[in-house]
Amino acid sequence: MKLGVNIDHVAVLREAREVNDPDIISAMYEAISAGADQITIHLREDRRHINETDVKNIINFSKIPVNLECSINEEIIKLVCALKPARATIVPEKREELTTEGGLNLSSKGLEHAINELHKNGIEVSLFIDPSLEDIRRSAALKASFVELHTGAYANTYLMLNSNLKYTKYSIDSLNLSKDELKNLLNFELEKIKSSAKLGVNLGLKVAAGHGLNYQNVGEIASIDEIFELNIGQSIIARSVFVGLKNAVLEMKELTK
Ligand code: PXP
Repeated sequence: MKLGVNIDHVAVLREAREVNDPDIISAMYEAISAGADQITIHLREDRRHINETDVKNIINFSKIPVNLECSINEEIIKLVCALKPARATIVPEKREELTTEGGLNLSSKGLEHAINELHKNGIEVSLFIDPSLEDIRRSAALKASFVELHTGAYANTYLMLNSNLKYTKYSIDSLNLSKDELKNLLNFELEKIKSSAKLGVNLGLKVAAGHGLNYQNVGEIASIDEIFELNIGQSIIARSVFVGLKNAVLEMKELTK
């Protein structure tokens, strides 16, 4: 199982002070030396963390593939084509959201054009989608080579079932359910991920997964044979506060084996 380490949150901390500390390139080297298989970053339209200079430097200095997440905004796609990461993962983007909250709408105007432009520039294209058979079929029809399954619903259900989240201000109202209901829902979400991964591979897609994965919930996803790569950010960067980035990546790498 390959591990893509998303280092956006290092830039989030940097931007809190608008100084070059922590340095994103040092973070990249730490992740690589701990065995990361890929560096993942998101160039958001509002540039709230990663900026063009970061992307250029990371692509220049990284010995491992760079997976650049982006929206289908025309200016962004032009930039991505010029920057030439190994892979572009197309994600939905809303200005007001804290993070990427759901999978892509595959009927979005401009999606097919964006995929074609990226392909023309020799960039592999992945689509960040909800785990649904319909979206897998449509992704294959759109000629993406990769899909990344959004594991957010699985991760949220896992947290409400197995942590004290319910008793904090971050409790998820829509998941305020009994333990039995949460267990059923967790199985349902996991089954959706498994069946989507299986169909994806059958249709010739490479299947990745990510969002909300952490040291507790990653095992079930890492054991799905059809998934070849996980992209993980928040939990690794959060753990690095206590054990350092290198150890945080090493520990996650161990869990995904
Ligand atoms: N994959 C994609 C496509 C994402 O947009 C994100 C969030 O930026 C991640 C993976 C990583 O999610 P998390 O930070 O919750 O691990």
